[in-house]
Order: sequence, then C-alpha cells, then structure tokens
Amino acid sequence: MSTNYLQGRRIAVGVGGGIAAYKVGDLIRELKRQGASVRAAMTKAAQEFITPLTLQSLSGQPVLTDYFDVTQEEQFGHLHLARWADAFVIAPATADLLARIRLGLANDAVTTPLLAFRGPVLLAPAMNTAMWENPATQENVRALLLQPRFRVVGPGVGPLADGDVGAGRLAELPELIEAANALGAAGPLAGKKVLVTAGPTQEPIDPVRFVSNPSTGKMGLAVAEVARARGASVTVVLGPVGDVPRDGLDVVPVRTAEQMLAAVMARVESADVFVAAAAVSDWKPAAPSDKKTKKGEGPEALQLVRTPDVLATASKKVHANARRPLLVGFAAETHDVVDYAKEKLQKKRLDFIVANDVTQEGAGFGTDTNRVTILGADGSRQDVAGEKREVASRLWDIVAAHGFAR
Ligand code: CTP
Repeated sequence: MSTNYLQGRRIAVGVGGGIAAYKVGDLIRELKRQGASVRAAMTKAAQEFITPLTLQSLSGQPVLTDYFDVTQEEQFGHLHLARWADAFVIAPATADLLARIRLGLANDAVTTPLLAFRGPVLLAPAMNTAMWENPATQENVRALLLQPRFRVVGPGVGPLADGDVGAGRLAELPELIEAANALGAAGPLAGKKVLVTAGPTQEPIDPVRFVSNPSTGKMGLAVAEVARARGASVTVVLGPVGDVPRDGLDVVPVRTAEQMLAAVMARVESADVFVAAAAVSDWKPAAPSDKKTKKGEGPEALQLVRTPDVLATASKKVHANARRPLLVGFAAETHDVVDYAKEKLQKKRLDFIVANDVTQEGAGFGTDTNRVTILGADGSRQDVAGEKREVASRLWDIVAAHGFAR
C-alpha cells in the first residue's frame, strides 16, 4: 500500500492503561502531521497515566472516556466513533486490553467502539516482559492476528520502566507511523480496483452557457473516500464540482456526459466494482454554438437531444465479458422511489442500486447527509440514513459481504 495512507484518513486512537500511555501524545501529533484527523478513546486505567485534556488538546477533538456519560454519548458516542473511524490504533495495547479485545468484551470506552468497528486495527503492545511472554498474552495476539484486519507493531526490546530489560517497550514513533501507513493493506478492500463517477455533467449551449444540475459530487466522493480508506485503489471520473478534497484518489476530470462515457469505458473492464454516483445530464443542446450567442439572436426555445447513459452502456459492455465488475447505480427520485429504483436495477442489469428520495429533508443534492434505500438484485433491502460518509460505509459493508467481480 502506498505510504501516504494517513493523509486525509480518520484515525481513532484507543489508549490503554500502561506507563507508555505518556507517549501517545507524540503519536497523536505525528498522525496529525501526516494529514490524519485523530480522535482518542481512553480506558479508565489510561486516565491514571495521562489526562483526557492532554489528548483533547493535541487531537483538537473531544476524547471518549466514559461510555456511560450521557453528554458524551449524545455528542459522539461509542458507535459514532466506530462509524467515524477509517482505522483504529491501540496504543499502548496492554496485556489486559489485548485479552479483552480478543474475547470481544465491550466494557470501556476503547473496547466498546472497537467491537463495533469493521476496519483495520493496529495493535501496539507495551507491557512488562514477563507479561508479554506469558503464553496467555501470546495466544491472545495470535488469535487476533487470524483476522487479516488486525496488525501488530512491536513491542520493542530494551530497558523497561520497571527496570527489566527485554521485549515490552512500545514501538518507536517512526515504526508506529510506518505500520499505521500500511493499514490500507489490512482493509477489506485491499487490492481491489474501484471506479466511481461523481458530480454533475455540463452540456454546453455556447462557450458561456450550459445545461446542468445542482450535484456537488459529495455522495460519490464519499463513496470513493471510504473505498480508499478500506484499502482499494480508486479512480473517480469527476464532473465539474470545483475544489474538493481528493486525497489519495486518482481523479479524472470531465465535463460532458460524452467525456464521462469515454473515461468510464476505458477503465470499467479492469475494475472490481463500478459505482455510478454521477448526476449525468440526460439531455444536451442539439446544436451548441462555438461562439457566444447574443441575446438578440438567441433561439426562443432550446432543442435538446439525449446524452448517452454512462452506466447502462458500461453495464452492457461488461456483461458481454466472462468476468465483470460488480455494478452499483444510484437513483435520484422524487416519488415512487423504490419502484423506480427496482426498475432501473433490472433495466441497467445492476447488482445494487442506492435509491435516494431527493425531496426528503436531509437528503439529496448538496447536503452532507443522505437517506437512502440500498436494493440488491438478490432482493435484499436496507434503509440507511446519516452523514454521506456513513451511508458510503454501509454501502461498502454490503458490497464486501456480497463479494466483488462476477
Ligand atoms: N446515469 C448515467 N448516465 C446517464 C444517466 C444516468 O450513468 N446519462 C446513471 C447515474 O449515475 C445513476 C443511474 O444511472 O447511477 C440512475 O440515474 P437517474 O438519473 O436517476 O436515472 P435515469 O436512468 O436517468 O432515469 P430517469 O431520469 O428517467 O429517472
């Protein structure tokens, strides 16, 4: 995986109660310097070694310390942290914390969000040598590593706080960062190629006017971002949306439906998943002018013709192949949402369609949230509401559970 995984990622740091907890401040600072947003969660024991206020100041984010605290739970509770994070780093992972994670316990502010988290986890053990070498601890680590999304860094060998010399030191900062940067390879989409269309298209009337729609590309970019965070290499064929964050994404800028079609057709056959989230203009002016039309000479009516359907054309092409990518479409509707979406699912021969009622509050163009129903060709149906990023996460959970190229 590329070394800039941390750039633009959301990292949850779970802090256990060991003397090495004092080093976590440096870790958080460095994660941020690498371009990550960081939120910390602390066990009760961790708070004996370092204060939540310290980690809050360094991360610039509230720290989860008590999952029974009503205010914390409301503002940013344990499930929210699990949904927010792209990856977890557990440092220091004490013997006790490792044992509890292995057992699937959820009894503090670290283990509870972690149990609800499906992405990559980096464990950075630190403890007394005898505790590390104890067969119980070794067995716990081995068991966790059976899941490919768990990684371990360290512990290092050297003098320990208790005067012993041996294995048990928290890995050094450069090693921790290197291991965190490799977490993309531990994601559920590691090695997968994802192609996404996003944003509107613009169909020129003349050099200064066009037919378009209010799409901002937020939903498609969230889909791309989450895929990238889970280890995929992602190409976004992106209509004109202005400046948007596109860290770690391969962006192919296009303007018209025809350009979008050409960019997609050149790439779709080698993809594992194709997600068409663009709001492609369905019509374009029949005879665009290459000079600005003066108002005196303008036509009273604009004649429009249909643009190509990017998703349907790509679907037709890949269905002729022995191997094809999984196909995911979006359906923006104002009424009879599920019925129309089912129709599109069948007509365009998709595996999934994300049906979007754009008239609902907190859904549709330009909002940060969305309310959708994800329908599968296998008859599955799931309703999802939340930040566009959370909706994207659920979509990838469903796709990953289903499997990729057919
Ligand atoms: N789509 C596309 N190219 C088009 C139109 C739509 O790739 N010219 C894709 C969208 O990206 C989306 C899906 O097809 O994934 C459905 O788009 P939508 O506009 O809701 O449906 P249409 O097929 O255009 O049908 P209608 O406008 O009649 O609702």
